[in-house]
Amino acid sequence: MDFLKKVVVTSVVLSSLSLLAAKNVYITIGADAVTANKKTNNDFNVIGIKDNIAIVEIDESKVEEISHLMHEEFHRCGGFIKHDSYEEAVRETAAMGTRAIAKNFKFIDHSLTQKSLVTKALAEVRDDTIADDIKHLSSYKNRHYKSKTGVESQKWLHEKWTKIVNGRTDIEVSLYEHDSWDQPSVITKIEGKSSEAIIIGGHGDSIATWGSRATAPGADDNASGIATVTEVLRVLVESSYVPEKTIYFMSYAAEEVGLLGSKEIAKDFKARGVDVVGVLQLDMTNFKGSEDLDIVMMTDFTNEDQNKFLGNILDRYLPTIKWGYDKCGYGCSDHASWHGEGFPASVPFESRKDDMNRHIHTRRDTLDKSGGHARHAAKFAKLALAFVIELDK
Ligand code: BES
Ligand code: ZN
Repeated sequence: MDFLKKVVVTSVVLSSLSLLAAKNVYITIGADAVTANKKTNNDFNVIGIKDNIAIVEIDESKVEEISHLMHEEFHRCGGFIKHDSYEEAVRETAAMGTRAIAKNFKFIDHSLTQKSLVTKALAEVRDDTIADDIKHLSSYKNRHYKSKTGVESQKWLHEKWTKIVNGRTDIEVSLYEHDSWDQPSVITKIEGKSSEAIIIGGHGDSIATWGSRATAPGADDNASGIATVTEVLRVLVESSYVPEKTIYFMSYAAEEVGLLGSKEIAKDFKARGVDVVGVLQLDMTNFKGSEDLDIVMMTDFTNEDQNKFLGNILDRYLPTIKWGYDKCGYGCSDHASWHGEGFPASVPFESRKDDMNRHIHTRRDTLDKSGGHARHAAKFAKLALAFVIELDK
């Protein structure tokens, strides 16, 4: 943060000579100052925050106000750096040694500012609706990517989501067909004003040893994750939430055979240049395997800043939920597909890896192993809701 104390005003001469009309410039500034200023002053646009440094777009005429505020409130001399272009802001901050700004780095605002919306939404989360969906999904013999019931279960989910959406014209529920197998993925898209996208998903398929003929209820792996995603959709729609960004809800096909469905979708989004600002993977949310922890953020194949953001959300809005970090050790679920395409992804998990549900991938992966209720999964629905609402600004 030291460098923020130095006033480095670049290209002042150039900018004052060249323009008489209003002009936007970019400043890099401590993130704490941005959050504080945002409360009283909305004349600037936060492009993104990383390592507690924010890049802010602002009308040049307002720069003096910021300078004044920094003196009065933060007692920093200047306390920010002015740049003539976004590229320059990125370049110069990088040159100052912040690990922050790699080439093509996209700043994402991970501040917490939506307290009232988040609090209202969290109060609507129920565990009985989640349990009902787990019960239905785990009633199929299996949800294997090559079985008839694997297709039927995804079609049921498509109908379920369509009912929740209740005719809203800004929401589209669709089946995403894959070329090499029959099971589709299911995607619900709430169209926002901006093209930026937030994705929350899990895998819809299940598996046990004998492939497409085995009994594989997959109540925890991963009916729990899909039921959690469904609860987030339900709460957002029933509270008539109209997002700024485009929000996707996804049930991926064919995860259990090498993340096949999500790989295709992540590649597709990358190829189409979709501006994904955050991906949350929910895979196994209902088995409380660790005595001392509720939610465990996997650090591998995930985005460190976004994991911290999730931790901050829990500390701020859900302080009774105990959380920690662990590692999967390999690309254990669909977050790895998004991570592999360069999108920020996270996977909050139900327990430490060592304490995981030992019944997954067997005929014994049933809801009774989690006590017959979905109270553990409800914590993940709350985290996911707060994640969507806070990222959607
Ligand atoms: N739900 C599991 C992932 C998992 C298992 C995460 C245990 C953490 C602890 C997922 O459905 C799965 O089974 N993944 C495969 C790997 C995948 C690439 C086929 C696995 O873990 O073997
Ligand atoms: Zn699995």
